[in-house]
Amino acid sequence: PRIAVIVVAAGSGARLGADGPKAFVGIDEHTILHHALQGVFAAPAAQVVIVAPAGREGDALTDARAVAGDRADLVTVTTGGSTRQESVAAGLAVLWGDVDIVLVHDAARALTPPEVFARVADAVASGRGAVLPVLPVVDTVKRVDDDEVRAAVDRDELAAAQTPQGFRRELLVSAYRGAAQEFTDDAALVAAAGHQVFTVAGDERAFKITTPADLERARTTLHPAAQ
Ligand code: C5P
Repeated sequence: PRIAVIVVAAGSGARLGADGPKAFVGIDEHTILHHALQGVFAAPAAQVVIVAPAGREGDALTDARAVAGDRADLVTVTTGGSTRQESVAAGLAVLWGDVDIVLVHDAARALTPPEVFARVADAVASGRGAVLPVLPVVDTVKRVDDDEVRAAVDRDELAAAQTPQGFRRELLVSAYRGAAQEFTDDAALVAAAGHQVFTVAGDERAFKITTPADLERARTTLHPAAQ
């Protein structure tokens, strides 16, 4: 199968409190996007679509060229929208004709190891239409209404969703075409369109860099001795 990875990197990163868009914040000498692309290029991708913030397309291409080496011709850069869902839709619009599996990945999950891409892609290739990596929920979780606890929720029934999420191309494209509201991830959008969604094991290292503490975690993960 021909696999495309759409890397959504068009978020502002307001919660990180950085000057510019989150994807271009440095973890070490390399940006969040650069690190994310290292995982992406370790996967057997036939096309890599980077959805960049408006005005930063050239910077995205610079990061892509640095990581891709002689596979830079696989890279397509396009401009994102004002929501994650619009950014994914922008990525879907520039897929090459012969792609049949699409992985959608958050650039902010910069340290996602190649095995996660492989697990997701393999599950789709073996016939699952929609697949997401998950981690068990470790906290005890409550259903609440204001300050009142309504119910305890059995955490064995819960899982935390990560990316890359993988789909048969035509399933994802048709679900996006029909989407009438905003969803927090692609799996939710596809489930709302009536499709079954399956899980594979996620990875602790696929955590999303959202706050300054997450950025610190990424730094110590990469360079433990520097502390
Ligand atoms: O904000 P958050 O980190 O949860 O967003 C998840 C991913 O979606 C990030 O990689 C971010 O760059 C991307 N995104 C986007 N376009 C937006 C909002 C978020 O590409 N408008």
